[in-house]
Amino acid sequence: MNHPVDATPAHSLGQIAESLRPRTLERLVLGQETSDGAGVRLRRVLTQDLQQRLDPFLMLDAFGSDDPDDYIAGFPDHPHRGFETITYMIQGRMLHRDSAGHEGLLQSGGMQWMTAGRGVVHSEIPQQQSGLMEGFQLWLNLPAERKLCAPWYRDVQAQDIPRLRTGDGVELAVLAGSSHGVQGAVQRELTEPLYLDLRLPAGSRFSQPLPAGHNAFVYVYRGALRIGDAEVPAQRMGILGNDPQADGVVLHALADSRALLVAGRPLRQPIVQYGPFVMNTAQQIHDALRDFREGRIGGYAG
Ligand code: FE2
Repeated sequence: MNHPVDATPAHSLGQIAESLRPRTLERLVLGQETSDGAGVRLRRVLTQDLQQRLDPFLMLDAFGSDDPDDYIAGFPDHPHRGFETITYMIQGRMLHRDSAGHEGLLQSGGMQWMTAGRGVVHSEIPQQQSGLMEGFQLWLNLPAERKLCAPWYRDVQAQDIPRLRTGDGVELAVLAGSSHGVQGAVQRELTEPLYLDLRLPAGSRFSQPLPAGHNAFVYVYRGALRIGDAEVPAQRMGILGNDPQADGVVLHALADSRALLVAGRPLRQPIVQYGPFVMNTAQQIHDALRDFREGRIGGYAG
């Protein structure tokens, strides 16, 4: 039994963690099996119908197969405009080239962050003939005033991604934002994305403060988690409710588990998508198609 005078700094920290008023699970999402690029099999976890609900995130694809026929063709040259793509590789090797002159080898545990801005043409081609290729591609929207910014690109190798281990034995990579005092590999103003890759031993618990207005979801890719009274099994996305009274999320691992935790500040702007272009108006999509046709996206017409 604790008497108030026995409170130690550690105890106080424990009380802070306990004071989290966690969000509840709003719904489970199965996603859609599909193929993209030149025939890469993947699960589209965050589909177009969820873009408003999960603003500022536009898409999440999960790919994972040890059958080279599922991935070997890769993603040959294709354009993007108006948002950012974040590719995170769990296992495998993929070569990226783009029209802005960037080239990089994405390897196991590494991340590539590309801001398409006013436009790039790029390719993403597997650099392996066999074995497991597993990873994720997340699309993060750009605010209206930044949609035509200059393209930007950064490779972050596995050893350069900040990591931490909690007292509960949970290990995490902080891809973006910050967690438990650790600054992630990339920060973004305005959308303030949080992107964590979590490895949770069975029976462990992980808590993460989240700003009340930010949209947030969990994607479990191994094992199973519990959020409040609800279970999120493997290969499911759990959308977290936006209770204005809640200040974070608490994840309980029902088995050895791996999961992504993603959150961001919504832009609340119109979203008009046509394939690889995501703008605010139909006219801007017409402009993107015209610019692509005339070689002004990734071409050399300036
Ligand atoms: Fe792409």
